[in-house]
Amino acid sequence: MRISGVFCALFAVARVTAKAAADASASGGSAAWVHGSYIVELEANESLADFYNAISSEHGIKTEERMSMGSSKIFNGASFKVLDSAGHDAPKLMDLIATKPAVKAIWPVRTVTLDVGKTEEPKTPTAPSPSAQKRQDSHATDDDDSSSPDTFMPHLMTQIDRLHALNITGKGFSIAMMDSGVDYTHPALGGCFGPGCLVEGGWDFVGDVPKGSEPAPDADPYDGCFGHGTHVAGTIAAQAAGNQYGFTGAAPGAKLRSYRCWNCDGVGSNEILVASFLRAFEEGADIIQCSNGIYEEAGWADEPWALVAGRIAQTGVPVIVSGGNSGGRGMFSPSTPASGLGVESVAAVQNQNDPIFVSSGSYTTDDGQDNNKSADNVYGFFAGTPYPAKALSLQLWAVGNDTESVTDACSPLPDDTPDLSDKLVLLRSVPDARASNCYPPDQGQNIRAKGGKYMAYYAYSNTSWDEEFVYVDGIESVISVAPHQGAAWIEMLGRGVQVNVSIPDKNSTKQVLVELEDHETGGLAADFTSWGPNWDLEPKPQIASPGARILSTYPVAMGSYRVMSGTSMASPLVAGVIALMGEARGGKLDSELFGRILSATSKPLPWFDGKTKADILAPVQQVGSGLVQAYDAVFAKTLFDVQSLRLNDTDHFVANHTFTIQNTGSDEATYEIGHMKAPTMYAKISTLRGDMLAGYPNPTVDSWAELSFSPDVFAENQRANVCTALYSVITVPGGGSAQVAVTIVPPQGVNATRLPVYSGYVSVNSTRAEHLVLPYLGVVGSMHSAPVLTSTGVFLANYGSPADANASYTLPTPDPAYEPVPGDEGRLPNMLLDLVMGTRQLHVHVVALGEEGATNNTMKTPTGIPCLGPLAGWPMRYLAALSQRAYFLGLLADGTVLPQGSYKMVASALRIFGDETVAEDWDVFETVPFSVQYSNGTAPSR
Ligand SMILES: *[C@@H]1O[C@H](CO)[C@@H](O)[C@H](O)[C@H]1NC(C)=O
Ligand SMILES: *[C@@H]1O[C@H](CO)[C@@H](O)[C@H](O)[C@H]1NC(C)=O
Ligand SMILES: *[C@@H]1O[C@H](CO)[C@@H](O)[C@H](O)[C@H]1NC(C)=O
Ligand SMILES: *[C@@H]1O[C@H](CO)[C@@H](O)[C@H](O)[C@H]1NC(C)=O
Ligand SMILES: *[C@@H]1O[C@H](CO)[C@@H](O)[C@H](O)[C@H]1NC(C)=O
Repeated sequence: MRISGVFCALFAVARVTAKAAADASASGGSAAWVHGSYIVELEANESLADFYNAISSEHGIKTEERMSMGSSKIFNGASFKVLDSAGHDAPKLMDLIATKPAVKAIWPVRTVTLDVGKTEEPKTPTAPSPSAQKRQDSHATDDDDSSSPDTFMPHLMTQIDRLHALNITGKGFSIAMMDSGVDYTHPALGGCFGPGCLVEGGWDFVGDVPKGSEPAPDADPYDGCFGHGTHVAGTIAAQAAGNQYGFTGAAPGAKLRSYRCWNCDGVGSNEILVASFLRAFEEGADIIQCSNGIYEEAGWADEPWALVAGRIAQTGVPVIVSGGNSGGRGMFSPSTPASGLGVESVAAVQNQNDPIFVSSGSYTTDDGQDNNKSADNVYGFFAGTPYPAKALSLQLWAVGNDTESVTDACSPLPDDTPDLSDKLVLLRSVPDARASNCYPPDQGQNIRAKGGKYMAYYAYSNTSWDEEFVYVDGIESVISVAPHQGAAWIEMLGRGVQVNVSIPDKNSTKQVLVELEDHETGGLAADFTSWGPNWDLEPKPQIASPGARILSTYPVAMGSYRVMSGTSMASPLVAGVIALMGEARGGKLDSELFGRILSATSKPLPWFDGKTKADILAPVQQVGSGLVQAYDAVFAKTLFDVQSLRLNDTDHFVANHTFTIQNTGSDEATYEIGHMKAPTMYAKISTLRGDMLAGYPNPTVDSWAELSFSPDVFAENQRANVCTALYSVITVPGGGSAQVAVTIVPPQGVNATRLPVYSGYVSVNSTRAEHLVLPYLGVVGSMHSAPVLTSTGVFLANYGSPADANASYTLPTPDPAYEPVPGDEGRLPNMLLDLVMGTRQLHVHVVALGEEGATNNTMKTPTGIPCLGPLAGWPMRYLAALSQRAYFLGLLADGTVLPQGSYKMVASALRIFGDETVAEDWDVFETVPFSVQYSNGTAPSR
């Protein structure tokens, strides 16, 4: 039975254009290799001491341990530094170690810089608020302050408020957070550290050391300098008591364990991250939450950090990770470890409220009756330019009383306008200055003509409220207030009430929190949220939650509260929801089961291209199953046995799937099975340099998969019936289950070389008013046939252009400590490598040219090209589709200094789904020849 077509009409045309994607400040963390350091994983019963002894006695490799990673059931290993490589270059050393029977795997160590997302920096100086003083006294957590209803918008959006109303707060569960630590002295975060406190445990992997120093671990994960972890902690478990804004975290009844993985600069390493996940796991954390990731290694589930995260999840411990803030980069960008198998990768949705910290002013009103003046009322404002040095107190006067006006003070003010020199002139900001040809200086001039000096704009919409600039001689002060404030004042003036407004001087401004509803982008995917899927077409992300414009706690020393945006703000809420599910459902947490429930009960989102909401759903590779719905997840009576349908690419296409609908309720339920589509998007665009991965917004194509279903009876006393041609209907008795077969026909008529990614949802609606979804995702085309490197994207480079063949370079004397600096792209021989796709392995080898030199080419590239060996710093592994540059500094990876002479470089990249032992699975390109001499004339030779 086919059911497609029926729903297609709803989705008529969805050709999509969108504004420029998220800005670069919201993109991923960055990473750099740590020379000569590795993480090794041993087989279960092998000892590290034996391993170090073996490589020393058998191969002469001398090492020093950097960090033990324990010997848990999921990982037995450590990181170490090579003190003496005994002449083995990096890849050979790794190969050698990898082939030892005791060794399961080996990876290089790299530094990781925290991806902090975007902070909505307060535009006014931060005056510490009275309740935000550092509290030294310890007190236990107060987890059942459920007296007042939860009105925190991120909770209303995700049904958390409904669970809080039932006193479900995550009691009995501990959530480990891998972050910058926590300011547990914050009054809303329990005020203390240790057993009995909200932050009941943890570890500091980095220590309080000066910038650039080696880590000095200690037991205290206090964060007074970075803030990110303190914000995350508040989203999970902020207490209402001690919180001047009254919000709580998603799971205020849960306990926190804080593992501090970044120092005050936001720098850590993959060894610390792997070690922190393992430590949290061994210390028995119920849930592991991490708001960071590495973008440069996006999309690989077997990258070491992602691998460990995935293994923890596979033991049943939920691992909740932010999906990344690289939305602008387009698809195939889930950062590691969000890319881990079984890891819940969380996308970010815009808060429906826009909480903004602005300057706080006051006003009084006088309605003339009984000369009865009101007390001070607070209003919030943005200080504009100019802004007065001295405090002002002025009577308010409005240019007009039409709060829909688009032309306030755009033309000269009428003759009967009073002298404005001692008035605060209120006017509405102009929505489209170009259309009305009315700019702030025009308005300023018209007000100035009546003597006015002080202006107060009110914004024309909630999302347009910002600073205003009026450069007109004689205008001394400009502020701007929210639309509702402008409307309230206009209404008072209309009633003949006199309003007196005080504007504080710059130095004594205090902050006030103003929350505005956002009906434009609220509830829709944030443009910065990273897109999936993984390179092997594993669906990513899994789920979405509010992550843009989130109010939470911040270190007391840094102002106590902050509004921040990023997937970092989205994943802690989901971690809290898992604790709520755990408390409500009872029993042990089960990562796989909870993932299935969360996914099935979440709410798909409308597709929003940055401009308009479309009549089609947001793609699975952007938001997973959609917005998390905590109440529905807790009370779900219907379960599926899978979280998603993975269709793979054309080479590995899986057309037929089955899934089980399990009715855990005691009553019979009838389910209507249907199909909901999302836009099909090309991963690649054609450019002058060939097909490249497209950044967001990707081009879409109006072609979708067709799904057909055949419900099947597979147990006695259960019946299934197919009723109409529009959809499948199946009735399942209480306690029973039924299997549904799904057959998928991929989108037709699409350009397969541009790798269209298609996705959508099987919808399952029950007579119990459950609205469940099962996401699916696939690609038309061959991931393996898509080149990683192309002839136009690999060349000996002079900045961005190809260098001439046989160019001659004079280099500094080879020095392993030399790091290329900006400008070296024009001075040093270097190969530019524009990766079109991600790759598990990218090698650069050096080939000696000339009769004499060629005799030294005794090594081989992966495809058998004779060469001298790998270039220093190479190979690289688990790469996203980024540009890389390989600098020739006269050194090989093993430290060999090359003599002056002629060379070329050869790049080899392994294709997606490629087998490293098969030559055809590698893309290989070489540079033109070049020659080098050293500035000191000669170079030592070995
Ligand atoms: C909420 O649950 C806690 C722990 O079970 C209990 O102590 C508290 O009284 C409950 N509060 C309400 C309002 O029911
Ligand atoms: C707005 O101003 C106009 C002209 O001054 C006046 O006629 C009208 O009644 C006012 N409307 C309100 C709602 O105050
Ligand atoms: C505000 O602070 C600045 C810098 O601290 C100072 O120079 C200035 O005089 C202050 N202004 C007022 C009005 O206090
Ligand atoms: C797609 O197929 C390849 C090759 O069999 C496999 O390695 C990969 O895991 C598959 N992807 C998914 C998401 O199942
Ligand atoms: C998939 O299912 C359809 C319909 O049940 C069947 O005709 C087809 O042979 C199946 N394809 C494969 C590859 O099993």
